[in-house]
Amino acid sequence: MTAFAPELLAWYRQNKRSLPWRDHPDPYAVWISEIMLQQTRVDTVIPYFERWMAKFPTVEVLARADEQAVLNLWEGLGYYSRARNLHRAAKLLVEEHDAQLPEDTKNLMKLPGIGRYTAAAISSMAFGHDAAALDGNIRRVYARIFNVEEALGTTQAEKIFWSLAEDYLPKGDAGDYNQALMDLGATICMPRNPLCESCPISQDCEAYQLDIQDMRPVPKVKKAVPHHVHTAAVIVEDGRVLLAQRPSKGLLGGMWEFPNGRVDGDPAEGLADVIDKGFKLNVEIMNLLVEVRHAYTHFKVTEYVFRCKLIRSSQKVNLRWVSLDELDDYPMGKIDRQIARKLSSPPENEES
Ligand code: ADE
Repeated sequence: MTAFAPELLAWYRQNKRSLPWRDHPDPYAVWISEIMLQQTRVDTVIPYFERWMAKFPTVEVLARADEQAVLNLWEGLGYYSRARNLHRAAKLLVEEHDAQLPEDTKNLMKLPGIGRYTAAAISSMAFGHDAAALDGNIRRVYARIFNVEEALGTTQAEKIFWSLAEDYLPKGDAGDYNQALMDLGATICMPRNPLCESCPISQDCEAYQLDIQDMRPVPKVKKAVPHHVHTAAVIVEDGRVLLAQRPSKGLLGGMWEFPNGRVDGDPAEGLADVIDKGFKLNVEIMNLLVEVRHAYTHFKVTEYVFRCKLIRSSQKVNLRWVSLDELDDYPMGKIDRQIARKLSSPPENEES
């Protein structure tokens, strides 16, 4: 069942993108790149990957690293649990596996942060095993070749995609084949306006033959994205600002933020209460400093940020006074980094 695999592989070997984790498949480098590439574009990943490999070149170095240094390097890539999972997995590998990644998907999937796709990608690309991988690009390619009519994300569609991926996998060439599908999806079989005239397997593509490429894959039914309003306090005293460290688990775990919380009503009115409940800080509001927006995967946030004066603090844990020129050393999510930049940049509309 390898109808189009030979053409696809020949095309890949001529046209593959030159990427820093290819050609010298060090399993560690493949692992790091695959984790970074989850939900993230290749162009975004490359500089992060290079900085990472320079700073944490091996499993052992990563295992010994400080978590804040790991999060700092990851800052801006998003989905920070990926970085924490890599760190935990490296420690596990050193403690229990002689710092070696397992070769097979079953054992790879026992490591934190490695699911079915990533396990197959590592096993096929780094170790040459016959493991079928399926990511967003590959699903789109299969949906077009085989005219899959089930909507993305449904159980039925997932069943179909995984069996196609397994049935059409050319034995002995899985690493190149998986990456060929990824490159085809990224450079030719794009979501909109695919370049079918340049596609090496258009003759095998049902959607192309029917001229319905634009209708495949059938998109996922989208849920409404909730929009949350947050209120935050920037408390500055003697050139230092008060930061809070988030709990180590969950969204932006272990990262730093300006004390903030969700409000239902007016953000200025709700601030004192939110900051008291969440951080045991009593503050007086001075003025609105900035309004920041950010879209996470499952919700959007608009945060109103107020400059505040500290009246009283009765909690010491997870709070730290940080001087303005040290803010870059503290890993933060996008919203808080925007606030930090605002604090470190010269005020607007003022002559120097
Ligand atoms: N996306 C995820 N893994 C990839 C790889 N190895 N090459 C290109 N794109 C990818």
